[in-house]
Amino acid sequence: MPEVEISALGARGDGIGDLDGRPVYVPYTLPGDRARIRIDGERQGAVQARLEALLAAGTDRVDAVCAHFGTCGGCLLQHVGAAAYRRWKTGLVADALARRGLGDVAVGGLVTTPPAGRRRARFAALRRAGGVVFGFNERRGRRIVDLGECHVLRPAIVDLLPPLRHLLGDLLPAGGAVDVQVTETDTGLDVWLCADRPLDLAALEALGAFAEARDLARLSWGAPSPEPVIVRRPPVVALSGVEVAIPPGAFLQASRAGETALCGLVGAALAAGRRVLDLFSGCGTFALAAPAAAWVTAVDADAGMVAALAAAARGRRLAVECRDLRRRPSPAAELDGFDAVVFDPPRAGAREQAGAIARSRVPAVVAVSCNPATFARDARILRDGGYRLDKVTPVDQFLWSQHLELVAVFTR
Ligand SMILES: C[S@@+](CC[C@H](N)C(=O)[O-])C[C@H]1O[C@@H](n2cnc3c(N)ncnc32)[C@H](O)[C@@H]1O
Repeated sequence: MPEVEISALGARGDGIGDLDGRPVYVPYTLPGDRARIRIDGERQGAVQARLEALLAAGTDRVDAVCAHFGTCGGCLLQHVGAAAYRRWKTGLVADALARRGLGDVAVGGLVTTPPAGRRRARFAALRRAGGVVFGFNERRGRRIVDLGECHVLRPAIVDLLPPLRHLLGDLLPAGGAVDVQVTETDTGLDVWLCADRPLDLAALEALGAFAEARDLARLSWGAPSPEPVIVRRPPVVALSGVEVAIPPGAFLQASRAGETALCGLVGAALAAGRRVLDLFSGCGTFALAAPAAAWVTAVDADAGMVAALAAAARGRRLAVECRDLRRRPSPAAELDGFDAVVFDPPRAGAREQAGAIARSRVPAVVAVSCNPATFARDARILRDGGYRLDKVTPVDQFLWSQHLELVAVFTR
């Protein structure tokens, strides 16, 4: 088995070494490590390997907090000391901007969020001969790592894992697989079993008993869309103090601390706006963070989330629209009616919408993104349209993972 010296951390969180003149990517390593590796194969011209033995540790290496670290694909960077970790996460934004010719933009200090804060997670479960395995997939694989602990998730979600495993042992056929999404809301846990099989009476009774015993707010079943099976209390989340009854499967920012940090940054940028447009609004995280005096329009393709926001904001200066912004981006002429626009697209970014914004005269544009690469692409479009971008603030709400949230304020 070959030995390599790790010289860098790549954008996906893998250590990078040199193998006979070719880069080799080794998860769970860091610069300064010397490692014996096993070659797994090649992907897009790069050699993929796994760590077999650590022969010498880099100076930034620290002990991981979780027993599953090294196998579970949820966390890739628990072994990196705090200072190096912050440098690497901040560098993700700086590198993405530089690749789009935006290396002059200042990247602010990393806004951190604490462990045990993640309130929304999707797990994989599989019934095998020995019982149900339940957890996250391993890095680069489809094998499920059976979670006994997790230092990222909210404790109430971790506590639910053993009973969920037990429930699925009764519900799943041999070899049966299901994804399970769990969201912690202010009124209790909202659980969605993403199964595309019909429910029989026995299963329905088992789900009812489970929801009762675990005091769930709601339990839903179905794929690709969830159907509520038991609603014991409407799952409600207060967004900037406004209680929103979220639909099953709704998007929420990953942690309450992340939401607070993002709303602080977005709210400050919107402070002068009297007419605010929130694109990709979801249930209204940013629409509801706009100044109370502002007239806000919130747009999203998900009818359930738009309806939830409309119901929660009754009596406020808020209008909603259900619209596919990729196929029908809000055009420049429409955008010109607003003082400020915030857009927070999914990971693929908002190329079409960014093009329309670039052609508009909106004085302030706030971008929120969970993908520095597509953000940088869209930022380039806005810069080419004449917008200034002075600073980007990274927000680490996906602790110890390769993912990163950010907020950027554009002006003209
Ligand atoms: C990252 S979430 C942001 C939601 C919201 N801003 C928040 O912070 O809670 C992205 C949102 O984009 C919406 N979305 C995805 N594709 C869309 C499209 N083509 N047109 C409009 N909205 C879309 C999703 O429904 C989701 O609510």
